Amino acid sequence: MNPLLAKLHPYPFERLRALTKGITPNPALKPIALGIGEPKHATPELIKRALADNLAGLASYPATAGEPALREAIVGWLARRYAGVKVDPATQVLPVGGSREALFALAQTVIDPTKPGATVLCPNPFYQIYEGAALLAGAQTAFVNSDPARNFAADWDSVPDDVWARTQLLYVCSPGNPTGAVMPMAEWQRLFELSDRFGFVIASDECYSEIYFRDEPPLGSLQAATALGRTDFRNLIAFTSLSKRSNVPGMRSGFVAGDAALIKPFLLYRTYHGSAMNPVVQQASIAAWNDEAHVVDNRALYRRKFMQVTPVLAKVMKVALPDAGFYLWADVSHITRDDVAFALGLLAQYNVAVLPGSLLARESNGLNPGAGRIRLALVAPAEECLEAAYRIVSYIRGL
Ligand SMILES: Cc1ncc(COP(=O)(O)O)c(C=O)c1O
Repeated sequence: MNPLLAKLHPYPFERLRALTKGITPNPALKPIALGIGEPKHATPELIKRALADNLAGLASYPATAGEPALREAIVGWLARRYAGVKVDPATQVLPVGGSREALFALAQTVIDPTKPGATVLCPNPFYQIYEGAALLAGAQTAFVNSDPARNFAADWDSVPDDVWARTQLLYVCSPGNPTGAVMPMAEWQRLFELSDRFGFVIASDECYSEIYFRDEPPLGSLQAATALGRTDFRNLIAFTSLSKRSNVPGMRSGFVAGDAALIKPFLLYRTYHGSAMNPVVQQASIAAWNDEAHVVDNRALYRRKFMQVTPVLAKVMKVALPDAGFYLWADVSHITRDDVAFALGLLAQYNVAVLPGSLLARESNGLNPGAGRIRLALVAPAEECLEAAYRIVSYIRGL
């Protein structure tokens, strides 16, 4: 067996399942799940129709690079969404089967494990695929804590130069899971400078980019690069997905865009791996990228829900409307540092499942930045999320 498999950490939900084994959730109350971040709003009819109308595509093998029409639709969407961004559909974009597989596969493409100390840098807390991708590529991981005092920005200046020098790949997530924070231009500028100096690749996970609560849409990495004159996107690759934007997590569709010098070897890797997108899904993806009305409606649903739920919870815990995403990253440390015990008690007494924050982070510099926090995924209908919020208020008041 591949010995690197033994290095993988159990997934946060696996750890939570093990922790909740002996717990009987209050049977008098209907269960409410705020733990898993799976979109639950309805899939738009236009996407279902495009799937049904294009079944003839099943009769042929797809190219790994995707249909030119799909790459054109993606590039068109990028240009509409991000002011000034020009992406070449022939060399700077590829369809992927959701951002997760692509985030994983990129590490297998860019990491050179023969170089001593090959390192992948991740924000902390983070999406666990980054870590698994690094470990299976034969690299080691290093974590950079997010700072609640600076809107959860990672403390890049805390990374010593010798770690930067070993870093081959840096993952960032903006809007962040779980923090909901959007990286500002100054942070991009700093990361681009560091990438130029030390030569690492930046993988920018932007799968929550279309769910936001401010007037201005989140700044994207390609947009930041363009504004800073880096129109070749050197050493940068952005990951975008339809899963959350268009409520199709089961369709497995997204794209990567960025530096042609990364896209070319990535296409080679993906060809051998067999990562071509189903032709039916390609057609439905074209329909999805070309329509913005359903995205506006979807965002409005989340906005209404967050506006209703956040003030209720803010009475008992430190929680604020995030920049974007569909999570509340709530601080319960004034009640307890033991976020696991907090979550287990809530499940036992009120049948509400939340994710303990410490399971989403690793200890780094003597600190687990998820400790004393919980992540609430507001994916269920608004009434259910609101009911959960009232139960959480009762739970905390009863502690
Ligand atoms: C931060 C982050 N990145 C990527 C993904 C993967 O999404 P998908 O593969 O559906 O695009 C998720 C899913 O929950 C996520 O939270």
